[in-house]
Amino acid sequence: MASSDFSLFMGQLLRRPHQVVALAPSSRFLCAEMVARIDPAAGPVIELGAGTGNITQAILDRGVAQEDLHSIEMNPEFCDRLRARFPRLNVHQMSAGEVGSLAVNDAQAVVSGLPLLSMPLGLQRDILTGTFQRVRPGGSYVQFTYGPKPPVARAVREELDLQWTVSHKIWWNMPPARVYRFTRTAH
Ligand SMILES: C[S@@+](CC[C@H](N)C(=O)[O-])C[C@H]1O[C@@H](n2cnc3c(N)ncnc32)[C@H](O)[C@@H]1O
Repeated sequence: MASSDFSLFMGQLLRRPHQVVALAPSSRFLCAEMVARIDPAAGPVIELGAGTGNITQAILDRGVAQEDLHSIEMNPEFCDRLRARFPRLNVHQMSAGEVGSLAVNDAQAVVSGLPLLSMPLGLQRDILTGTFQRVRPGGSYVQFTYGPKPPVARAVREELDLQWTVSHKIWWNMPPARVYRFTRTAH
């Protein structure tokens, strides 16, 4: 990660602590786990809360073309940095709560760097409902968390009938984290 990206991240953390909600950008070990199931032949990918682009880079390193990746980020300064760093990436400056309105069909996954657990229940509901409108059947919502509980509120998990798997703990991250993969039971 370039030192200018780190400086930008830290500056935005000080200015917008309730949006950034992380001590540092995700480590390469956490990024690797977040994207481990991404298949460049399996369709577009949507990313939420891209920040300075660490997870974005990891998705592209899996072989996904920039044109097939749609990164949602609400912070305009992070969006500028993403556009400079990845010129053909689809950068959407908007709230992740509007992911359902994105003109992307049959995404293989939504990969989220959002501070989901610190968000209000209604916003979580919008993000997860929108996600499962945009992913193909069997598609997943991938989310890291630092705490011991699933990063999606129980009420939303139950409303959407979500199932999940959880990774081992990734110690080389600040703080250590786990990655959850949520899928929706077919109705
Ligand atoms: C913890 S940082 C993660 C940054 C990067 N993905 C990483 O893992 O290093 C959270 C990011 O989510 C963005 N964010 C927070 N709330 C958001 C929302 N409602 N819609 C879109 N982006 C949001 C913040 O601006 C920030 O870039």
